[in-house]
Amino acid sequence: MKNFTSVHDIKHPQSLIQQVLEIKNNGKRSTLGTNKTLALIFFNPSLRTRLSTQNAAINLDMDVIVMNINKNGWNIEFEDGSVMDGSTQEHIKDAVQVISGYCDIMGVRTFANLKNRDEDYEEKVLKKFIEHSNVPVISLESATLHPLQSLTDLATIAESNIPKPNIVLSWAPHPKALPQAVANSFLQWITKTDAAITLTHPKGYGLSKRFTDGVAITNDQESALENADFVYTKNWSSYSQYGQTPSVENDWTISQEKMDLTNNGKFMHCLPIRRNVVATDEVIDKSLVFEQTKNREYAAQAVLQNLLEDL
Ligand code: CP
Repeated sequence: MKNFTSVHDIKHPQSLIQQVLEIKNNGKRSTLGTNKTLALIFFNPSLRTRLSTQNAAINLDMDVIVMNINKNGWNIEFEDGSVMDGSTQEHIKDAVQVISGYCDIMGVRTFANLKNRDEDYEEKVLKKFIEHSNVPVISLESATLHPLQSLTDLATIAESNIPKPNIVLSWAPHPKALPQAVANSFLQWITKTDAAITLTHPKGYGLSKRFTDGVAITNDQESALENADFVYTKNWSSYSQYGQTPSVENDWTISQEKMDLTNNGKFMHCLPIRRNVVATDEVIDKSLVFEQTKNREYAAQAVLQNLLEDL
């Protein structure tokens, strides 16, 4: 593996999912990363990604350096050829080359700005990191994808041992406009498995066709939930009216009454979750969300192991 930025960086996604579960079940300590350093660069906040990836590196005997670059670094310039006589102090090409001189693998988190769809979907910032880094790059969530989360989610589904599960990806309410990255990425990974996937969202919240090929889509949440084995829930803002939050008539919060429509289905969410907005306390408290968060560590470790083996 050269970089880890999407499912397309993986030759055999199913093998990687099995590797995550093997690490979880057969002991996680290794010295593969001795004398190697992981740098984690955050443009945006994180709890799970930051701590689980640090833990994964520690399990491999790596050293870890972490920087919240927006808070603690110089103002970064992203435009090539820019005359830097304004507020930006350091060019991205210099910053990334400097960081890659201090580490053997680099992780970067950079969210969508939700203003310019083309810029976000071109993955402008992540691409700059890949272009200027001398070491492998891991996406810790980018403008349009969250591959570490998706690998975790598929491992969590796989460990439930339900053959050909029925999976529903449902939009849910949220008070703020959020990126489409988790939903896009979940579809990108789940369509590589033999699961049956149904996407349900209100009108105006369709995702990019790039991710919905072969996916059943309905605006009727309750009919989608019938017979679901897993209900993966996430909010996202509009793709067609990019970054907007068109008004929604019906109640899309996942309640116990809605979960009762499923095939004894398990509720999943990447967290953080707005309780009693996205889903009720009752649903969240008996869900798989903490299995997912624990599996983040093993997913990150599987990715780091593959990258270390190929250094
Ligand atoms: N799910 C997830 O990526 O959580 P954080 O934003 O806290 O890292």
